[in-house]
Parts: sequence; structure tokens; C-alpha cells
Amino acid sequence: MVLAVKLVYASCFAIVMVKAALGQELFDVTKYSASTGGSPSENTKAFLDAWKAVCDFDGEATLVVPEGTFQLAQVEFAGPCSGTPRVQISGELHAPGSVDSITNDAWIDFQDLNDLVVAGGGVINGQGAEAWSKDSDNKPVAFLDAWQAVCEFNGNATLVVPTGTFQVAPLTFAGPCKPGQRKFKILGTLVAPSDGNKEHESWIEFRELHEIVVEGGGVLNGQGANAWSQKKKNMPISLHFIKINNGRITNLALKDSKGFHIAIHQSVNVVIRAIDIKAPSDSPNTDGIHISGSSHVRITGVTIGTGDDCVSIGPGSYNIIIANVRCGPGHGISIGSLGKYQDEENVAHIKVKNCTIAGTTNGLRIKTWPGTSTTSQAYNITFENIKLDNVSRPIIIDQEYCPNDQCNSNEPSKVKLYDIFFKHIQGTTNTPDAVTLKCSKLVPCQDVRLIDIDLKPLFSSLLNKFDSICSNVLGLALGIQKPNPCVHH
Ligand SMILES: *[C@@H]1O[C@H](CO)[C@@H](O)[C@H](O)[C@H]1NC(C)=O
Ligand SMILES: *[C@@H]1O[C@H](CO)[C@@H](O)[C@H](O)[C@H]1NC(C)=O
Ligand SMILES: *[C@@H]1O[C@H](CO)[C@@H](O)[C@H](O)[C@H]1NC(C)=O
Ligand SMILES: *[C@@H]1O[C@H](CO)[C@@H](O)[C@H](O)[C@H]1NC(C)=O
Repeated sequence: MVLAVKLVYASCFAIVMVKAALGQELFDVTKYSASTGGSPSENTKAFLDAWKAVCDFDGEATLVVPEGTFQLAQVEFAGPCSGTPRVQISGELHAPGSVDSITNDAWIDFQDLNDLVVAGGGVINGQGAEAWSKDSDNKPVAFLDAWQAVCEFNGNATLVVPTGTFQVAPLTFAGPCKPGQRKFKILGTLVAPSDGNKEHESWIEFRELHEIVVEGGGVLNGQGANAWSQKKKNMPISLHFIKINNGRITNLALKDSKGFHIAIHQSVNVVIRAIDIKAPSDSPNTDGIHISGSSHVRITGVTIGTGDDCVSIGPGSYNIIIANVRCGPGHGISIGSLGKYQDEENVAHIKVKNCTIAGTTNGLRIKTWPGTSTTSQAYNITFENIKLDNVSRPIIIDQEYCPNDQCNSNEPSKVKLYDIFFKHIQGTTNTPDAVTLKCSKLVPCQDVRLIDIDLKPLFSSLLNKFDSICSNVLGLALGIQKPNPCVHH
């Protein structure tokens, strides 16, 4: 039974694309009365009739499965044959959904054959959902077996998670793989264990891969409630890219992660697009997307509402573009926190543009820790065309960032900030502190430019107190300035 289930898994996940030369003689299963509307037993009879003709042919003969989806019961293509049989699958084969209808140890079995080629670019869909739901212990094994097949395939290959809901334990999909693009296509919903366990750094991790696409319209549900109640840092990241070169995450929903929803670490060339991220506004450390040690990352067209930063950019991040993000609730879009650890790398060339931020604590923020010895720099950072609504601190540079009094805040931050641009920023604030620029007295901020800042208090009671706060900041203000600016040369 276990073996049968494993084979069903593996054949379901692996979609194999091979180009093979066709044999001389073609035997199309539809000529033997297989059809896309046919029942599994009718189609199986037709496939076996066609196979008999192929097998009896003295020479190269090809069984052809054309485009279209064919239901197929358990089937055994047996030899020996007179010539050289081939199977060309252009369409999709669907296994019976019910586990009990497969009694052999394989769904599609080839036996006693020499020089068999099975090819064609089609799909072998094992419809494993029912089997998985009956055998929960085997699921990580099933995913990893399927990944091994996909990873070792020489060419593009896709691992498909079909529709349905699957409980999934922490998984690492590691490379290096054979050349070609790998896709992880999630059509259904993956559900993480609901324990508050911190054992794993990630729930679903992709590591050391060249060309990986994660997509599919499905859902990753991190089931974070138990983890949040422990209020610990570094709870498992739901979707983690580590050492990825050319990655893409598109068209997915993530919810209720235990820790960060998506994290990109030590990677180059990553695109995150059309993603929807949701967690309660009081869930701790549930950042939407965190980037660190990575370059050329583009985040666009995403909607994020969580209990922490919508997007956060950590040390070692270069050439990051964040565009068309809708953020809130949460803590806004943050560079940092920086300077907490020894020998941190710099952060540079960051652009945040055309975003809307609503109902958040901070809007656009740069935060660094005081009282540490790190001497990194953050520079060439632009926030441009941003709409803020009902935000507590719309624009904030905070070099005295020290949540829960974890630092010696009498020592100034040693992180140097310069070339920081806030351009065309409009919206409303629910506190008087519209613009806060609290820089380090040891290394003052330089070249902070405020250009067309148009903020209003949300309540008229805030009007008299509505203001900017500056310390240790050099820069200039141009164009519209509401509130009155406090930066100077
Ligand atoms: C493999 O995928 C890449 C990227 O999508 C594509 O450019 C290439 O044509 C694909 N190759 C084959 C053989 O399908
Ligand atoms: C700005 O972002 C919104 C989504 O927040 C998007 O609909 C719009 O097309 C974007 N505009 C530009 C110029 O990219
Ligand atoms: C500043 O960063 C942007 C990317 O946001 C980049 O295009 C630009 O070249 C950088 N400017 C300098 C002077 O490096
Ligand atoms: C402002 O945002 C808070 C959440 O931070 C929300 O509870 C409140 O209803 C919002 N108020 C307005 C006027 O939008």
C-alpha cells in the first residue's frame, strides 16, 4: 500500500517534457475510440488496443496520446514487442481519484520492453489528493520524492500541487539541479502545522537554485496563532528563498505566517509580483516581505496587511525596487532595522514608488539601533509618489530604534545615512508627528531631501501641534511643505 501511494504521488507531481523523434508508424489512441469524454475503463481498453497494434508492429511504432485530457484506469503495457515501441503523450492523463481503484503497485506500468521511449511534453496527473489525505505521515516524503525527480530532470520541469487542501510539514527544496527552469506550481492550499514550534527556520524553503518560479494561484496558510501567542522572534518564515539566482514568486496568497511571510536572503534577480499577504494587525513579527543580503529584487503589485512591516529591507540589500504596493494594516515600509549586529553590510540604491499605505503605525521608515559598534551606511534611498492615509508616523528616520529597551540607548547609532529622498508624499496622519527625522549625533544624516510633502492631520484637534521634528539632520526642503520643514543645509 505504501509503495502504491508513493508511485501515485511521484507520477502526479512530475511533469516531464522531452522532445523525442517519433517512430515510423503512428497509432493514435483516439482512432481506437479513446476520447476526452470517455470513462476510465473505455479509455483503458482503447489504450490497450492501440498498444497491441504498436507492440505487434515490426519496426518503430508510436502510441500517440493527442492534446486533451484522458481519464485512465490502472493499465499495464506489457512486452515483449516485435519492434521498437514509443509512447508520445501530448495531452494529459488523469488517474482515478479513488485510491482503492489502483490495486497494482503502479498506475501506469511498462513491463518487459527493450528501448522504450516515453516522451511528448504532456502531463501525467496522478490525482493524489485522496491518497495524501489518508497518509499524512508520508507527505513530506512525497513532496521531496517529487522534488528529486523534478530537480534531476534535464530540462524545464514543474512540480504541481493540485487543488485541494494539504497539511504539509516543513520542507526544503534544495539545489543544485540539472540545467533548466524549475517551477513549483501551487493550485491548492498548503497548511502548515499549527504548533508554535520554532525548530525550523522556514516552513517552505527553496535553496541554492538557478531559475525557480513559485506560482499557481494557490494559498500558503502558516497557521500562526499558536506561534504568535509565544511572542518570540525568528518564528518560521512561510516562504524562504536562500541563495537563489533568478527567482520569481507570483500569483499566490499567503496568510497567517508564524514569522515573516516571505524572506529573500543571499539572492540575486528576484521578482515578487501579484501576491496577497494577510495576517491580523496584532500578530507579532509577521512582516510581509523581508529582503536581506540580496540584490536586484523587484516587488510589484502586491497587497500586504499584517502585524509588522509590510516590506522590510535588511543589511546587504542593493538595487531593490518596491512599486505599486498596497500596505496596511501594519508598520509600513521600512529600511532596517540596521546596525544591530557586528560587521553588517551596507544598504543602497533602494526605490519605493507609487505605493499606498493606510491604517499603519509608521509609513516610510528608516530605523537603526543605537549603542552598537556597527559602522555600516545606508544611502541612495528614494521614497516617491506615496499616498498615506490615517498613518501614525508618515515619514520617520529613527536612529534611536530600540524596541523593548534591548540596547544602551545613550550611545548614538554609528550607521551613516545619506542621500535620502522623500518626494511627492501626500496623505493624512492621526498623530501630530508628521515628519520625524531623528538622526545620530555621532554621524548626522546628510542630504536628506524633502520634495513636495503634503500631509494633513486626520483630526482638527491635531492642527496646533502638527509639526516636524529634526535632530542631527542636514538636507533641504523644496516645493510644497506641510508641515513646516525643519531640515537645513
Ligand atoms: C524553459 O523555460 C524557459 C524560461 O521560461 C524558456 O525560455 C525556455 O524556452 C523553456 N525551454 C523549453 C525547452 O521549453
Ligand atoms: C500605482 O499602483 C497602483 C496599485 O497600487 C496601480 O493600480 C497603478 O497602475 C500604479 N501606477 C503606475 C503608474 O504604475
Ligand atoms: C540610486 O538608486 C537607483 C535605484 O533605486 C539607481 O537606479 C541609481 O543609479 C542609483 N544612483 C546612484 C548615483 O548610484
Ligand atoms: C485608522 O486606522 C486604524 C487602524 O490603525 C483604524 O482602527 C481606524 O478605524 C482608522 N480610522 C480612520 C478614520 O480611517
